[in-house]
Amino acid sequence: SHRPTICYRPIQPSDLEVLERLHADIFPIRYEEEFFQSVVHARDIVSWAAVDRSRPNGHSDELIGFVTARIVLAKETEIGDLLIYDPLKPDQTLVYILTLGVVETYRNLGIARSLIRQVIKYASSIPTCHAVYLHVISYNIPAIHLYKKMSFKCIRRLQGFYLINDQHYDSFLFVYYVNGG
Ligand code: ACO
Repeated sequence: SHRPTICYRPIQPSDLEVLERLHADIFPIRYEEEFFQSVVHARDIVSWAAVDRSRPNGHSDELIGFVTARIVLAKETEIGDLLIYDPLKPDQTLVYILTLGVVETYRNLGIARSLIRQVIKYASSIPTCHAVYLHVISYNIPAIHLYKKMSFKCIRRLQGFYLINDQHYDSFLFVYYVNGG
């Protein structure tokens, strides 16, 4: 097999088909068409794609990994209470990671780590932003290892947070503080 040359770029409209296929392949949850449209048109969503420039036959710009996130108002989230509430700063924000995935044949190369780094760098550049956070299903060991290794703190276990095929599953809430928390 060839040696990959991984590059990172924003997700764009031409990524729509592959983005939808990868989400369907990778996640047990179905996402609405509106979500994918918001991602590729960067409507309220920020995203990064990983591509392998060394892939032949016109695949050198095709997604092999992605992360999607949304900026939210801290006071409107379940973790707003964890930040020091400052009535003079009602516009405190957080970056919420919606989806993160890497194509199976490209796993364990550090691609997810780089994608999360991009999100942290972006969140740190927003003065009102105090943290990056996300939910992960409790049986997802690779993802839990990844977030722990990147110094995210697991602050909550939410019982029955996910409903998949009539089965309830717990989730962990992970937080990475930026700009002093
Ligand atoms: N077992 C244990 N730890 C793992 C594993 C694994 N299979 N894979 C990654 N890790 C941990 C390790 O600590 C690793 O660091 P190390 O190599 O120094 O030990 C660290 O994660 C970074 O690994 P990466 O190579 O950057 O991770 P990768 O690019 O393989 O992607 C991911 C990890 C995204 C979890 C991938 O396995 C995947 O796409 N899984 C399916 C989708 C998914 O679970 N997404 C996250 C759901 S949560 C959310 O979306 C908010």
